[in-house]
Amino acid sequence: MSEHKIEVVINGRKHQATVEGRRTLGDFLRIHVGYTGVHLGCEHGVCGACTVIVDGVAVRSCLMLAVQAHGAEITTVEGLAAADGTLHPVQQALRDEHGLQCGFCTPGIVMTLAALTDGADAKPSGETLEAAMSGHICRCTGYQGIRRAIRRVAGETAGEKA
Ligand code: FES
Ligand code: FES
Repeated sequence: MSEHKIEVVINGRKHQATVEGRRTLGDFLRIHVGYTGVHLGCEHGVCGACTVIVDGVAVRSCLMLAVQAHGAEITTVEGLAAADGTLHPVQQALRDEHGLQCGFCTPGIVMTLAALTDGADAKPSGETLEAAMSGHICRCTGYQGIRRAIRRVAGETAGEKA
């Protein structure tokens, strides 16, 4: 069994660890570091629940090895809200539009949308954001609340309640 030393920054904090070569990033974040907001569902890249942001890009942490993240900056859902507790606009929109029920799928959806909308020049359309949702499975909501939240985030129906 091969072991590797890695150093990553997670939610602004530096972490050093020794991990097995086969350890997924998702397991590393949950088991080694304790970020249990990283939800593991299918564990083969289908459901999207495990999505985190690695160097600004949304990735499925069940499909990436921890050793591949060496040197990277990682954000999990725990690191998205402001230090004073103010929710990220994507989180706020999902809350306002009842875009979640059990919440299992929610961290992954939040991270995908945050990766697409963060940054001064990032102004994706609602259509683009909805297309990104094709990589996420939600067993509870019927997607309508999520779609309303997406439109709110995209600024297409700000404040409108369907
Ligand atoms: S747990 Fe990673 S995509 Fe489902
Ligand atoms: S809110 Fe339950 S799976 Fe989406």
